[in-house]
Amino acid sequence: MKPAILLIGTNGQVGQELNRMLPRIGEVTALDRQRLDLAQPAEIRRAIRTFHPAFIVNAAAHTAVDKAESEESIARAINAEAPSVMAEESKKIGASLIHFSTDYVFDGSKTTPYDEDDPTNPQNVYGKTKLEGEQAIQASGATHLIFRTSWVYATQGRNFLLTILRLATQREELRIVRDQIGAPTLNTEIARATTSILAQICDTEGGPFSLADVSGIYHMTAGGVTSWFDFTNAILEESATIPPATPWFAAATNKLPLTVRHVNPIAASEYPTPARRPAYSVLSNARLNRTFSVQLPDWRKQLHSVFANPHAETH
Ligand SMILES: NC(=O)c1ccc[n+]([C@@H]2O[C@H](COP(=O)([O-])OP(=O)(O)OC[C@H]3O[C@@H](n4cnc5c(N)ncnc54)[C@H](OP(=O)(O)O)[C@@H]3O)[C@@H](O)[C@H]2O)c1
Repeated sequence: MKPAILLIGTNGQVGQELNRMLPRIGEVTALDRQRLDLAQPAEIRRAIRTFHPAFIVNAAAHTAVDKAESEESIARAINAEAPSVMAEESKKIGASLIHFSTDYVFDGSKTTPYDEDDPTNPQNVYGKTKLEGEQAIQASGATHLIFRTSWVYATQGRNFLLTILRLATQREELRIVRDQIGAPTLNTEIARATTSILAQICDTEGGPFSLADVSGIYHMTAGGVTSWFDFTNAILEESATIPPATPWFAAATNKLPLTVRHVNPIAASEYPTPARRPAYSVLSNARLNRTFSVQLPDWRKQLHSVFANPHAETH
């Protein structure tokens, strides 16, 4: 029998793709904000007790990094307190919690990829509250997988790819930060890797391990490294190759031609934002690869795949 999976945050970038892929391995109940408001802990408890899942997959989060600076209590409620309640309830019913976290738990002072055990030191409210969520899950005693990912984008939602495409139709010149280094990760790849890992765990017959053996934090990002500046140039390079009527691209550009002629690199200090961001937040995926034999493609390949499959409605 397929395990019952409760997917929370089904309308997010990662949540939408999980909702498409998880039914391959389980009976999925998918809840969006209308059906489950994570600011209401009693609702979380009620949902988990009602559906009694084997797995809870939490793709919801307060991801507005700059906004979080001025609404710390709501960011904490969604990013820390809600996962804490999910973990507590998971422990009670023997469910496993699959959760996502962020590269922004680190301060960016390293110059080589961060391992899972490197010291955390978040520089903004979003990172701080996400770290609190991780810690609450770990302290709960529930079996869990926490996947830290980075610079998530998709062909829908709010993200850097879609912002650049919109701006590229409105301006001749863009000024983009060059001194923040990371790994842009496509929502589809995160959902695919998560589904593949859960499939391995669900395959109890020949499965290599039970979730209790592998419970913990894993980094799950695209391979390779880039800057926002180089990512922008790659987006524009790919944009020249896609049929403009491709549905997601036409929606992103509002069917307008790209007008941008120059992309100028700037320092983060020239683009002040409410939230501080780490200068370097590349994560090492070695543990994920070692444990689950899962490796996400290089960021450049992931980006290419978005433009090279013009008939795909979603990514
Ligand atoms: N986005 C990134 O760059 C990034 C980077 C690193 C890590 N991550 C992590 O990756 C995971 C997935 O992120 P994502 O990019 O897919 O996020 P996303 O697109 O912003 O989606 C987040 C989802 O959470 C839901 N949500 C927010 N507040 C809620 C509430 N009170 N009750 C119920 N649902 C609520 C949102 O609902 P609505 O649709 O109704 O707003 C949205 O569907 C998160 O854990 C995030 O922290 C993301």
